[in-house]
Amino acid sequence: MTRLANHQQQRLQTLDSRRSVPSRQLSGPGPNRDELLRILQSAVRVPDHGKRVPFRFLRIEGDARHALGAILARRSRERDPTASDSVVEKDRQRFTFAPVVIAVIAKQGPDEKIPAQERLLTAGCVCFALLQAAQAMDFGAQWLTGWAAYDPVIRDALGVREDEVVAGFIHIGTVLLEAPERERPDPAALLADWTPAA
Ligand SMILES: Cc1cc2nc3c(=O)[nH]c(=O)nc-3n(C[C@H](O)[C@H](O)[C@H](O)COP(=O)(O)O)c2cc1C
Repeated sequence: MTRLANHQQQRLQTLDSRRSVPSRQLSGPGPNRDELLRILQSAVRVPDHGKRVPFRFLRIEGDARHALGAILARRSRERDPTASDSVVEKDRQRFTFAPVVIAVIAKQGPDEKIPAQERLLTAGCVCFALLQAAQAMDFGAQWLTGWAAYDPVIRDALGVREDEVVAGFIHIGTVLLEAPERERPDPAALLADWTPAA
């Protein structure tokens, strides 16, 4: 094992302590506007090929969460008229557990130099950095998508444009109940040395 200096150990410990808290285990208070802007200040520090800033944020909080829940419930019924009431109720509640949900919208329009994939990766980094920054501010957070992220009616209701995609809904709040740690991949099993073909 590599011997680490104290400061290295502390920094890695912070990175290693990141874990999601399921949205239904989050409650109020969530970050207020100032706290959220501080979280976003860290979240926007992502690698960004061509400095395109290929992302934007939508805050869904308070009554807006319930309004979105009502749209989800209606759309859920429309997508599957045979859906049970409990399925529809689950959809209604999706955005109502955490006090604040940040939709990270990735810009995917035409670009002469930077492939859409790279811009989506940048938006994905933003989602991850948001999780880390929220946890650093003592909040819990979870990155969710679900059908709502891809459904045209919900996209339209959110004002997501044709050339944009929802990279994720980041649910942020106070932790009611910590999530148990899950097994993590073994990096040694994933690492190989590339060697040139003979
Ligand atoms: C792009 C993306 C979308 C996700 N969408 C969902 C989802 O819709 N539902 C879900 O239960 N988990 C989803 N997850 C997984 C959770 O964010 C999270 O990784 C999981 O709860 C495990 O927690 P961990 O972050 O501590 O590993 C998604 C993850 C990613 C990266």
